[in-house]
Amino acid sequence: MIHIKSMKEIEVMKKAGAITAYAHKVARQMIRPGISTSELDLAIQQAIVQHGATPSFLDYRGYPASSCISLNDTIIHGIPSKNEILQEGDIVSIDIGACFDGYHGDAARTYGVGQIDPQHQKLIDVTRQSFFEGLAHVREGHRLGDVSQTIQRYVEQNQMSVVRMFTGHGIGKELHEDPAVPNYGTAGRGPKLEPNMVLAIEPMVNLGSHHVKVLDDEWTVKTTDGSLSAHYEHTVWISPDGPVLLTAGDEDE
Ligand code: MF3
Ligand code: CO
Repeated sequence: MIHIKSMKEIEVMKKAGAITAYAHKVARQMIRPGISTSELDLAIQQAIVQHGATPSFLDYRGYPASSCISLNDTIIHGIPSKNEILQEGDIVSIDIGACFDGYHGDAARTYGVGQIDPQHQKLIDVTRQSFFEGLAHVREGHRLGDVSQTIQRYVEQNQMSVVRMFTGHGIGKELHEDPAVPNYGTAGRGPKLEPNMVLAIEPMVNLGSHHVKVLDDEWTVKTTDGSLSAHYEHTVWISPDGPVLLTAGDEDE
C-alpha cells in the first residue's frame, strides 16, 4: 500500500531531508586522496546525531555502519572500513539516510577523487542527469512507469546500463515503503502518482553491463564485469505543484 502523507508528516520529512543533505555536505568536503571510508562514515554519523536524528541505515537488517560508501566497481552498500583509503582517480558513491522524529530522508551522490578519467566523469554526470530527466515526470497525472522509462532511455542513449536488481522506493516512517521505483520500465504502466506521495528515486548506472554480484559480506554489491558504477538519489515529495527535493543541499540542485 502506498502511504499518502499528511502535511504534518511532510513538515517532519523536510527536517529529515535537510539533515540528510547536511551530512552529505560534511562528507563531500572531506573527500580527498588518503582519507578512509570509515573516517567519512564517522563524520556522517556525527553530523546526523548532532541534529537530533539517527542514521537510518545503522542496524537496518543488521547493516553495520551509518552510511554506505561504494568505490569504483561497487554499485551500492559498500561497508565503510578503516582499511579502505580513497585514492586519486577513484569514484566514490556515498549513500546516507537520517531518521528525524520517526521519518526518514535518503540520498546518494557519486564524486570523483582528485583528477578522474573523463569517461568516469561522464558516468557521474549521466547518472545525475538521468535522475532529473525522470523527475520531470514526477507529478500528478503521470504513472511511475513514465519516470522509470525516462531514466532507462536516457542512460541507454548514453551507452550505459541501469541496474535492475535494486530499485528506489517509497519512504516515510519506513526507510523502504511501497512502491518500488525501478530505473527501467514502460511509460503508462505502474501506479498513478498522487500529491503527497514521497519517493526515493535512485538511478544506479554501470559503464558496462547491468549485472550485479553480492560479496560474501552479504552487503557489498559490485558489477560482475568490473565496470564502474555511479549512484544518485533524492527523497522527492510530490507536492500539488510538482516535485520537491526534500534532500536538496545548497550546491546540488
Ligand atoms: N539508499 C539505500 C536504499 O535506499 C540504502 C539502504 S542501505 C541499508 O536502499 F544498509 F540500509 F540497507
Ligand atoms: Co534509497
